[in-house]
Order: sequence, then C-alpha cells, then structure tokens
Amino acid sequence: MSNEQQIPILDLGPELAEVSAELQAAYKRVVASRHFILGPEVEAFEREVAAYLGVRHAIGVNSGTDALVLALRALEIGPGDEVIVPPFTFFATAESVSAVGATPVFADIDPETFNLSPEAAAAAVTPRTKAIIPVHLFGQSADMDALGTLAREKKLLLVEDVAQAFGGAWRGRKLGTIGAAAAFSFFPSKNLSCMGDGGLVATDDDKVAEATRMLRAHGSRRKYFNEAIGYNSRLDALQAAFLRAKLPRVDEWNRARREAAARYTELLSGVKGLVLPRTRAGAEHVFHQYTVRVLDGRRDRVQTTLQEAGIGTMVYYPKALHQLPIYPQASLHLPNTEAATHEVLSLPMWPRIARETQVRVSDRIRELAGPVR
Ligand SMILES: Cc1ncc(COP(=O)(O)O)c(C=O)c1O
Repeated sequence: MSNEQQIPILDLGPELAEVSAELQAAYKRVVASRHFILGPEVEAFEREVAAYLGVRHAIGVNSGTDALVLALRALEIGPGDEVIVPPFTFFATAESVSAVGATPVFADIDPETFNLSPEAAAAAVTPRTKAIIPVHLFGQSADMDALGTLAREKKLLLVEDVAQAFGGAWRGRKLGTIGAAAAFSFFPSKNLSCMGDGGLVATDDDKVAEATRMLRAHGSRRKYFNEAIGYNSRLDALQAAFLRAKLPRVDEWNRARREAAARYTELLSGVKGLVLPRTRAGAEHVFHQYTVRVLDGRRDRVQTTLQEAGIGTMVYYPKALHQLPIYPQASLHLPNTEAATHEVLSLPMWPRIARETQVRVSDRIRELAGPVR
C-alpha cells in the first residue's frame, strides 16, 4: 500500500462543507416545525424543483426506485405489458417494471454513450410494448430525438430514468421533462442528493401527477378513504429541507463536474488501450461518473493495481441485467452491453476533486496502460 493519501471514488466532504450552514438551518427549521413527513417543507421543495426543471408537477417520494414504480403505476402499466429497458443500468430500472407486474424487455446499448440504442429499442417493440425507459446513464442524456420519434410512431410512453443525471439536458431541455413521466433519485451519491433515501416523480400530466400523489400515500387522496393498493412512499421533511439547501448549488456543482471531466480527458488522452467518455452532440453531460473503457481484458487488473495504490474505482456495472438468473433469458445475446460489463471503469469524481488528485489517478493509469507508441 502506498504512503500517499487514499483517493476515494467519491468524497462528499467538500460538498457538505459548502452547504454546512444551510444544512444546519434546514435541520433546525424542521425540528422546530415538528412536521417530519410530507408537509410544507416537502411542498416547498416540490415547487422549487418543478420550477428548476420547468415541469408542472414534482412529487417527492421515498427513493428513485419508488419513483419508477409509482410513475409506471400512475401510467397504468401492469400485467401483460412489456417495457423496453437497457440491460446496462442499476437493477432498479428493470426491477420497477417487474414490481408492477409488467415484463422488462432488454435492448442493447449504444457502445459510445452506454445508453439505450434507439435501433435496438425499435427492434424490441412487440404488440404488447407499452413503454420505454431511457436511462440517462452516468449523467449523459439518451438519444431523446430518436427515442421520441420511435415512441410517437409506435404510440409508446417514455418514462425517463434520471437517477444519475439531475440537471442534465437534451437540446436545452432539462432531463426529466421530455417523457410522459420521469424518476429521479436523491441517493447520497447522486448529483443532487439527500442524507438518506429520497426520490421524485416529475410530469406535465395532471392525471399522472394526481395518481402518483394518491399512490405514494397508501392509495388515498383523502386520509382513511383509500381507493387503491398503494405504497408508503412519502418524502421526509428533513430530506426535502436538505435538498432545498443543495438545489441552488447544483448547476455550479455540475459545471465543476464537467470541468473535472475535461481535465481527466486532457490527462488521459493518447493512452493506448483506453477509451475515454464522449459527449454526444445535443447532450449536456453532468458527469455523475467519468467512465472509461479498459480494453484487451485488462480492466480487472488495472482496478486491482489502482486499489493497491490507494485509488478507489468502481465497475458500474459488472453484470448485465439480462444475464441475472432472476431474468432467465439465456439465449439473449446483447454484445455491446456484455462488452461494457468487462471493460468499464469509473474513476474518482466529485465536483471539487482537485487537479493534483486527478493527476495522481491519471499518472497511475498511464503507467498501467502504457503510452501510444
Ligand atoms: C439508473 C438508476 N435507476 C434507479 C436508481 C434507484 O434509485 P434509488 O437508489 O434512489 O432507489 C438508481 C440509483 O440508485 C440508478 O442509478
């Protein structure tokens, strides 16, 4: 082990220090109010986040996973329906489809962005397909033009999974405002995060919003007058208050992430056997992750050696969802996804990561991968 300081994959310290006074004030305000679940603090957050996104309705829920489940239920997606999802994402994207009784249908990704391939999605449409869930993976928008056209032609709903891309945009439109509904996560590692679990459904559709609000509170619009089997999926006032403290900084933090990404790209360019992330025209990337590909079967060795040097990295994701035993589709072969699971490596990334830290990470990777000859 090196004597140098350890570098984690994510350091929340600088972000929390920047808003420390606001977080303390938020805590005191909520404790003084004695109102801990939903209530004025959650309503204020919902108004502020709706204004930020430019969407009619924002509904605070328990987690990003619940946001997906509630959005699908509110859109009346259920048993007998198929929903097209990428297999290269966090499990919750497909899990939510299964949780509402529908069937996730996996379509391959675009190797350049790691996002759902519109061509593969088009090929996966059947008469039972009801929706597509584009995931804006690692902070970069999926191709919402092509997916939007496909959805219109085939009369499908788009449910955006914006868990990793708060503040990102597609052709100037904030992610989460393009589809019929969108799900956000405020899990502590996300670009906008709380201090526990939290999530949000965004939609312009009044009916979908009303159904989501009903479902998050045990299927009741009026307490004790339950009309559907719903969920206990209410956002806590404390989490909403913490999120209100951070929301005004999120654009600056995303800008700093882009700057950090550009530094990595400068420091790592020309390294043989390494493919750096690219931003698609039209996408405003918010670099939730800076994810490279390590070619020639050397990813695991590079990761282990970095670990030995005190540098934390992560493999998002080591297993394709269509290859999980819970989704037994042994015959399904999705080559772009399968290659990505063997090659991707996410490097240390947070808004205030220091250039020296990035130099240390990059120098080590350069040594391991070797310069272009
Ligand atoms: C792409 C994606 N979808 C959904 C989720 C689920 O969010 P949560 O952990 O808040 O339930 C996450 C993150 O954890 C995610 O990264």
